[in-house]
Amino acid sequence: MKLELANKILLNERYSRLIKQLEELEKDRIFCGHDMEHFINVARITVMLCSKNNIEADTDVIYSAALLHDIGRVEEYINGVSHDKAGAEIAGEILEEVGCPIDKKAEIVKLILSHRRSDNEKSTLEAVFYTADKKSRLCFCCKAQDICNWSEDKKNNKVEI
Ligand SMILES: [Fe+2]
Repeated sequence: MKLELANKILLNERYSRLIKQLEELEKDRIFCGHDMEHFINVARITVMLCSKNNIEADTDVIYSAALLHDIGRVEEYINGVSHDKAGAEIAGEILEEVGCPIDKKAEIVKLILSHRRSDNEKSTLEAVFYTADKKSRLCFCCKAQDICNWSEDKKNNKVEI
């Protein structure tokens, strides 16, 4: 399957720069990182959950949103702004740079803005994207498990989907 938009984002200069900056900012972080492995896992789990829940969604939109959803972390670490809002703004600019169609851009920005909200309507793309962001974490083998501030019910202590 061709993921044209997602691959354009990967090649975008500003995106690459932000990913490197994020890696540097998180180099001593003991908790879950926000790296390429996380982004791709979020995309894959979202695709699986869409299929399981009969949600129709554009795979390129899912992968693009997953690649961009935590990009605002750089702004959060440096300026203390929330990463969903900062990320939506930066993502919008990157999407314009890569020539993203306006309707896809709106869907991606919406996913980024709602990825920290658990109150999304069930059986929507927003809801499964939120769930995928959480399910992507391997709490059962995490070294920081005992000091993590996630509540026990939120932690992925078992392999499940
Ligand atoms: Fe995330």
